[in-house]
Amino acid sequence: MLKITNLTKSYGQLLAVDHIAFEVNEGEIFGLLGPNGAGKTTTINMICSLVKPDAGNIELDGLDMHQAGDTVRKHLGVVPQEVALYEDLNAIENLRFWGSLYQMKKQELKSRIEQLLEVTGLTERAKDRVKTYSGGMKRRLNMAVGLIHQPKLLLLDEPTVGIDPQARHNMLDTVKDIAKEGTTILYTTHYMDEAEMLCNRLAIMDHGRILAIGSQDEIKQIVGENRLLRVMGSFDKLIAESLPNKLKELALISIAENEVVYSLPVEYGTGEFLETLIKSGFEIDNLSINEPSLDSVFIKLTGRELRD
Ligand SMILES: Nc1ncnc2c1ncn2[C@@H]1O[C@H](COP(=O)(O)OP(=O)(O)OP(=O)(O)O)[C@@H](O)[C@H]1O
Ligand SMILES: [Mg+2]
Repeated sequence: MLKITNLTKSYGQLLAVDHIAFEVNEGEIFGLLGPNGAGKTTTINMICSLVKPDAGNIELDGLDMHQAGDTVRKHLGVVPQEVALYEDLNAIENLRFWGSLYQMKKQELKSRIEQLLEVTGLTERAKDRVKTYSGGMKRRLNMAVGLIHQPKLLLLDEPTVGIDPQARHNMLDTVKDIAKEGTTILYTTHYMDEAEMLCNRLAIMDHGRILAIGSQDEIKQIVGENRLLRVMGSFDKLIAESLPNKLKELALISIAENEVVYSLPVEYGTGEFLETLIKSGFEIDNLSINEPSLDSVFIKLTGRELRD
C-alpha cells in the first residue's frame, strides 16, 4: 500500500532521515520505533507532504505521492504528534470543520462524526468545549480528526505521549479497533511495549536510519534467540561457574552472592537446565526467565536502551 524508497532529509549538516526504505502492507499496523530525534516525525511529515524530501520516493497504491497530488493524498489521514484542535469548539464542531475541508456531504459527515465519537469513546462529552477535556480525550479527538474522511492509510505520530496509563490503554484499544475496521496504520512510538502489542511488522529507527525491519519474530532473531535465566538462592559459586561445562549450550552472564544469570538458546527447554541446577545442589528461592524482546534487540543494535 505505502512504499518508501531512498527517502532522505537533511537540516543543515544534520541528516534527519538517511536514505530509508520500507513498505506498509494493506491491513497491517506497521510500527516505526525509535528514540527522540530518530527521524520519525520527519518521515511522517514527508509522507503527508508537510516537509519536502531531499531525495526519495513515496508511493501510495502504486501512485507517486508528489506527482499524483491531491487524488492520492485524500486517501491519507494524519494524526500529528502535537494535538491540533480548536479549544473553544466542541468535538462535533471540530470534526465538522475538518470534514468540511474534505468536501464531505452533510449527511455523510454527520454519520461519520457519530461513528468516530463512538469509536473514540467521546460521545458523552461531544458537546463540551475541547478546553475542558483531559489530555487523553484531546488525543482521541485528534485521532478522530485524522480519520474523518475515511482514509485508507492513517499516520499516527506518537499518539500516547503525555497521557496517563489508563488513557494510554484506551488509546491502544482504539488503534486496534480502527485497524480491525480496515484502516492501514503507520504508527510511530518510542515505547517498546506498544510496538510489541500493536504492530504486525516494524522498523527500528535511530539517527535517521532504519537498523532492522521485519515481523516481531524476525527482528527478535537478531539477538540470537537467547533466554536470560536469573536464579536467586544459595549455591556454591565454583559449581555455578562451572555449570556451562555440564550443559554446553549454557553461558554465564553474571554471578553475585545469591544470584546468577545464564543465557540459554530458546530451542533448548528449561527443564534440563532446572534438573542440572538441582543436581548441582542449588537451593532455588526464585527463578525468572526473560524471553528475547525488542528491548534486547534495540540494545544490541545501538548499544543503548530505548528511553525518553
Ligand atoms: N525543522 C527542523 N529544523 C532543524 N532540525 C530539525 C527540524 N525538524 C527536526 N529536526 C531534527 O531532525 C532530527 C529528527 O527529528 P524528528 O522530529 O524527526 O525525530 P523524532 O523521531 O520524531 O523524535 P521525537 O520522538 O522526539 O518526536 C532531530 O535531530 C531534530 O532535531
Ligand atoms: Mg516526533
